[in-house]
Amino acid sequence: MSDTDGLRYTKIPLNNGSDEIPALGFGTLIPDPIATKEAVKISLEAGFRQFDCAERYRNEEQVGEAMRAVLEEGKVKRKDVFVGTKLWNTNHRPERVKPAFEASLRRLQLDYVDLYCIHTPFAFKPGDEQDPRDENGKVIYDSATTLTDTWKALESLVDEGRCKAIGLSNVSLGQLKEVFEIARLKPAVLQVESQPYLPEWELLDYCKRNGVVMQAFAALGHGMEPKLIDDPVITAIAKRVNKTPAQVLLAWAVQRGTAPLTTSTSTRYIKENFDIATLPDEAMKEISQGIDTRVRLNSVVETGIPGFIPRGT
Ligand SMILES: NC(=O)c1ccc[n+]([C@@H]2O[C@H](COP(=O)([O-])OP(=O)(O)OC[C@H]3O[C@@H](n4cnc5c(N)ncnc54)[C@H](OP(=O)(O)O)[C@@H]3O)[C@@H](O)[C@H]2O)c1
Repeated sequence: MSDTDGLRYTKIPLNNGSDEIPALGFGTLIPDPIATKEAVKISLEAGFRQFDCAERYRNEEQVGEAMRAVLEEGKVKRKDVFVGTKLWNTNHRPERVKPAFEASLRRLQLDYVDLYCIHTPFAFKPGDEQDPRDENGKVIYDSATTLTDTWKALESLVDEGRCKAIGLSNVSLGQLKEVFEIARLKPAVLQVESQPYLPEWELLDYCKRNGVVMQAFAALGHGMEPKLIDDPVITAIAKRVNKTPAQVLLAWAVQRGTAPLTTSTSTRYIKENFDIATLPDEAMKEISQGIDTRVRLNSVVETGIPGFIPRGT
């Protein structure tokens, strides 16, 4: 295994026919706005060229400021950075999609995004309150809007040219197929939790057969228990190949054809997470076939309610 192999620069073609997504992505779900700015700057400097954002993270403005600062220094060009953001549940009504998208662009200080995804398949009561609740504290859903209605509104954004590709997040295989069937512009990306305890082989197989890139969040296990980075299969491989458990997990994710997302506010971790290298075939097999633990860490997929979110400034 070599430190100078090209795994960290892997790009996966998108089904829009013209673009590629850098496989290794940096996620911006960081609660503190100052830490967000710093982490985005450090990750760009460390080499990350794919960024995952969301209106729900309430920090697109800080992500935008950090990117602008690095781009203005001239070391990185906008065309070399792949930026994706996501439509929140309260904006699923077709007439709310374009204003929500434009607000994200404004906050990010960008003329276009490379990817716009529907954050979850759950439509919440439309409005400015991102977490609408009834008097009993229960989320208020919006049964008047379907996922396919929202999808069609996203297609119009691509037609208008300020969004290069569109995708889905936290949907089931059935929902992905449903959108795929009616779509004039097919989903380019599916963003779901996926890691060795939740490999989602069936979803990945469908994605590969249909030209959809599977973006894998919680690639390092969200920092939650049971700790993936302490898994004995992972730590043994890490020792053998002289890499850290995080680097082993990220290499596995890229080599199996997904685009993993990680997040950190630590300079050391950010640099470490970009410094991946190709795993030998037997290590890939050990992770794919030798780990029996099965755990979903993030329940957003069941309710549309996120596991953890910045509380705002
Ligand atoms: N679509 C969705 O619903 C959804 C849901 C969740 C996340 N996401 C996206 O996915 C991104 C990734 O978030 P995630 O939580 O899934 O990432 P993750 O990388 O699985 O977990 C982040 C945790 O791992 C720790 N960590 C990072 N690098 C490490 C390393 N090298 N060694 C040891 N620990 C390390 C971090 O610690 P420190 O903080 O101490 O660095 C943090 O506690 C998010 O930012 C967001 O963009 C999307």
